[in-house]
Amino acid sequence: MRLFACIALTFVLFGCGESDKKETIEQKEEIVYDMYEPSEMAILMNQMYEHNMKVKQDILDGKTPTQFPMDFLKIHSAEMTKASDRNETFESFSKLFIATEKEIFNDESTVDIKERFNNAVNLCVACHQTSCTGPIPRIKKLLIN
Ligand code: HEC
Repeated sequence: MRLFACIALTFVLFGCGESDKKETIEQKEEIVYDMYEPSEMAILMNQMYEHNMKVKQDILDGKTPTQFPMDFLKIHSAEMTKASDRNETFESFSKLFIATEKEIFNDESTVDIKERFNNAVNLCVACHQTSCTGPIPRIKKLLIN
C-alpha cells in the first residue's frame, strides 16, 4: 500500500499531469528522448528554471544580480503544447511574472533581494496552479528559505 502511494506520487511529480501517456514518456525521457518533442514554451520554462537556479546561487553567495534575462520575454510569444492554453489567465499571470522577475534586477529597489526573488518564484507557482501543476514541487525548490 505504501509502495503504491510512492509510485502514485512519482507520477504526480512529472509533467503537467494532463495525460498518463505524456507522463510515462517524460519519465522515460532519457531513454526515449527523441520521441518527446518539447514545445517552445516547455524549453523556455526549463531555461527559466536553470537561470533562476543560478540567480538563487548568486544571491546566496552575496552577489547582486543586475541583468534581467531578456529571453524571459519569450513567454509572451512562445508556442505552447496546446494553443488554447494562452488564455486571459495565462496572459495576466505572464505579465505579472515578468514585472516581478524584473524587480529582482532593479538595483534601486529597497526590498530585500531574497524577498524579491521569492516573489518571482511564487508567481511561477501561482501561474502553474492555474494551468500546469506537475512541475510545482520542482519549482518550489527555487525558493530561498
Ligand atoms: C504565465 C504562466 C506561467 C508562468 C509565470 C510560469 N510557467 Fe512554467 N509552465 C506554464 C505552462 C502553461 C507550462 C506548459 C507549457 C507547455 O506544455 O507548452 C509550463 C511548463 C513548465 C515546466 C515543464 C516544462 C517541460 O519540460 O514540460 C517547468 C519546469 C516550468 N514551467 C517552470 C517554470 C518556472 C521555474 C517558472 C518561473 C521562473 C515558470 N514556470 C513560470 C505556465 C507558466
